[in-house]
Amino acid sequence: MPYKLPVSLAARTPPCRLLMGPGPVNVDPAVLHAAANQMIGQFDPVMTDYMNQAMDMYRQIFKTSNRCTLLVDGTARSGIEAVIVSGVRPGDRVLVPVCGRFGLLLCEIAGRCGAEVHTVTAEWGTVFTADQIEDAVKKVKPRLLLTVHGDTSTTMLQPLEDLGAICARRNVLFYTDATASLGGNPLEADARGLDAVSAGLQKCLGGPPGSAPVTLSEKLLQAVGRRKHVEAGIRTDKHVAGAEEHIHSNYFDLGMIMDYWGPERLNHHTESTTMLYAALEAARLVLEEGLDARIHRHEINGRAMAAGLSAMGLALFGDQTRRMNNVVAVHIPAGIDGEQVRRTLLDDFGIEIGTSFGPLRGKVWRIGVMGYNARKDCVLTTLVALEAVLHRFGHRTPQGAAPQAAWDCYV
Ligand SMILES: Cc1ncc(COP(=O)(O)O)c(C=O)c1O
Repeated sequence: MPYKLPVSLAARTPPCRLLMGPGPVNVDPAVLHAAANQMIGQFDPVMTDYMNQAMDMYRQIFKTSNRCTLLVDGTARSGIEAVIVSGVRPGDRVLVPVCGRFGLLLCEIAGRCGAEVHTVTAEWGTVFTADQIEDAVKKVKPRLLLTVHGDTSTTMLQPLEDLGAICARRNVLFYTDATASLGGNPLEADARGLDAVSAGLQKCLGGPPGSAPVTLSEKLLQAVGRRKHVEAGIRTDKHVAGAEEHIHSNYFDLGMIMDYWGPERLNHHTESTTMLYAALEAARLVLEEGLDARIHRHEINGRAMAAGLSAMGLALFGDQTRRMNNVVAVHIPAGIDGEQVRRTLLDDFGIEIGTSFGPLRGKVWRIGVMGYNARKDCVLTTLVALEAVLHRFGHRTPQGAAPQAAWDCYV
């Protein structure tokens, strides 16, 4: 068979979907427009000015004054991996509270970095109290505490109040993964005593996946500096190697990444120019709206979605007092094939909702209300469609109850 060239993307227009799952979600059109701009060079003063602007805006979004606030090129996982491989030395003891898939991911990445990984576990659908974490910190005596702020697999938001003080008392470095929570839930890096936070664009920040905003405290940056190793070819006599074992990744060496983002502008990777444009516009939109106003928008729309699902007679999953504003998980009713419902929503209504992982696989749907899609019309459209599909498959509810209950939340 002769090789058949695939059609160009322009001819293969992707279908128009309303993405109401746990992320990615529809990208704000302004961000898409920004990303479509032409390349500029890596050291063009306009480019480096854009990088400085990104650092400045993400400092405001993370609520930090950390000098080391930058973008790692890659999806949210690249930000996590950069923090862990740069911050954790082989043999370091780390503590990970696990109550969902993304706690397990932190264990996985820390383990691959050679850490001695200790966990404390809680049921999926719950979060930890500060006392539970303090007890584990006392017992394990970790060098780092690795937490997930919003675990998208369960929709729970781990309270971070008090954890910074616990870590400060015991000289523990404190990290949180805010991929799912940043921009839609309160998070104050400095006020919470966080040494590192990483995120992604594709959830509450309303951008595409592919750029990971990261911030590091001065204390953690100094620890990274003790592992400094500038690669041959760009290294000069000025660059003195750190006293500790160098970081076991070149791409994710936050010391070298910071050398590019900082005043030295030392070449490391080729910055993903397109993603920088997207990350800049996503941040600008957050600050234009106001961080608090944006969090409030996520809270109202998440509450309306939860009210609509409850009015449909569906049971919400997990401790609702601890739920992230931006994702609602709901039990799939008995006798209903969850995948068939998801497929019908996609095929007939163009709406995507999510399933979950591990113990929740096939048991819950996760419905996201975030970023550009944290809007009344998205919530009401999704509820109308879900109600109709459930009705078709035999789960009878008073038709119209769900959108009505949600709609009432906006009055
Ligand atoms: C809490 C959390 N952490 C990490 C990730 C991984 O992000 P990515 O797929 O962008 O690498 C996700 C993705 O959904 C997430 O929800």
